Amino acid sequence: MLDLATPKDMRAWSRAERARGQRLGFVPTMGALHEGHLRLVDRAKERTDRVVLSVFVNPLQFGPKEDFTKYPRDLARDRTLAAERGVDCLFVPALEAVYPQEPLVRIAPGPMADTLEGAARPGHFAGVLTVVSKLFHMVEPDVALFGRKDFQQVMLVRRMVTDLDFGLEIDIAPTVRELDGLALSSRNGYLDADQRRAALALSRALRAVEQAWRSGEADPKALQRRGMEVLNAPGVRPGYLELVDEQLRPVARADARTVVVIAAHVGATRLIDNVVLGEGVAGDIAVRT
Ligand code: PAJ
Repeated sequence: MLDLATPKDMRAWSRAERARGQRLGFVPTMGALHEGHLRLVDRAKERTDRVVLSVFVNPLQFGPKEDFTKYPRDLARDRTLAAERGVDCLFVPALEAVYPQEPLVRIAPGPMADTLEGAARPGHFAGVLTVVSKLFHMVEPDVALFGRKDFQQVMLVRRMVTDLDFGLEIDIAPTVRELDGLALSSRNGYLDADQRRAALALSRALRAVEQAWRSGEADPKALQRRGMEVLNAPGVRPGYLELVDEQLRPVARADARTVVVIAAHVGATRLIDNVVLGEGVAGDIAVRT
């Protein structure tokens, strides 16, 4: 596995590979790799010839009271996991390489970033889209792969790529879960054993909404009430539970394409999850970790 640290080296390698006719797949991450990230690598390997995985904890997308400094970092472990999984190029740029100066020009994500996570975390998606666009310019991939776990994020990235003519494909991978339903996340490591149990309320609430919908309920308000009953569990501080379309707009009636998005705090840890009603939680990938 090739190890690259500067945008210049990254771009040179990418251009050389593409000149040789290789299609490049790109998996951007903040590290603390888990099976959710690694399934994106598998998918990239199926669809492209060369896979780049980046590890960069992006300060721009963390609020002043968020966990930027304590976000888990273990580059040695990430390197081993990436190499074992067949990543061709690991790109780990230093903070000063990505932000040699404070960026004055940033991506404005527009109204799709004003709701849900964006409402709870002001500036978050401007930070995400700014770093993702910078990484796209450094790596110049043919395909970039994102998880549906971060539904609003990938919808915004896809919209940015269309609206700003990035000329690459965005591939969306299903959510990877533990066998008991908890969606994998680098932040799950913050949870103690009790909190880990409490966190199951998110996937349970999604299942409850899905079951009610399958039993014939299509009114989003009624489905939301049903989900909130389950989310409102001991140790869980519900954020939102909404039924939305791909533009993140509330739906008037739930159908198979409707996405149930959910957020809650368990202790100090903010967790998010979602399900596409027609696919169901069982349609995601379950792994033993
Ligand atoms: P990070 O949280 O490290 O996630 C990197 C990618 O892995 C994202 O596309 C995310 O959706 C995907 N992912 C995380 N958990 C997943 C799971 N359980 N199942 C499937 N995919 C999962 O998202 C970011 O980093 C950053 O915002 C980034 C895009 C790198 C920009 O800084």
